[in-house]
Amino acid sequence: MGFKLNRMKKQINIELEVYNNINELPEIEQSLVLKAKEIAKKAYAPYSKFNVGAALLLDNGEIVSGNNQENAAYPSGICAERTAIFYANAQYPNQAVTTLAVAVFRNGEYAEQPVTPCGSCRQVMLETENRFQKPMRVIMTGEKQIYVAESVKDLLPLSFDSLD
Ligand code: THU
Repeated sequence: MGFKLNRMKKQINIELEVYNNINELPEIEQSLVLKAKEIAKKAYAPYSKFNVGAALLLDNGEIVSGNNQENAAYPSGICAERTAIFYANAQYPNQAVTTLAVAVFRNGEYAEQPVTPCGSCRQVMLETENRFQKPMRVIMTGEKQIYVAESVKDLLPLSFDSLD
């Protein structure tokens, strides 16, 4: 005979903007998406053949981009988002990252559905957002649909941060 626990439940909602066309985005965000698409093609991804590009906008208007860099020892490689963010934080330690766009090129074409950053990248993006106390908009692009989160917090509910 089992017994029934009265479990309390909590729902966590996140909100994403959804677009069907890049032209619906503000001009600066369109150029970030184009930059992410362009740099995706230059990724070093001979193992996965999944080429990812990330482009980000700094508070001073500068655009920084990066792509995934793989390694024969798989875990030694790194994602596009972290390549771009770490470079930005290294070169511009006082500039918040206000927007980040991600795009994927594989099998000779850009992904149809939005590409979403992996868990490790989300954690790193959150650190940057918290460090500069400024929300980072995240544009996840696909040819058919684009998702935009207005803060990394929306991509990482119940996140672990330095307050923990
Ligand atoms: N990758 C990224 O660069 N960003 C993501 O958000 C997801 C995954 C890379 C890591 C690896 O080189 C390849 O894509 C396949 O997972």
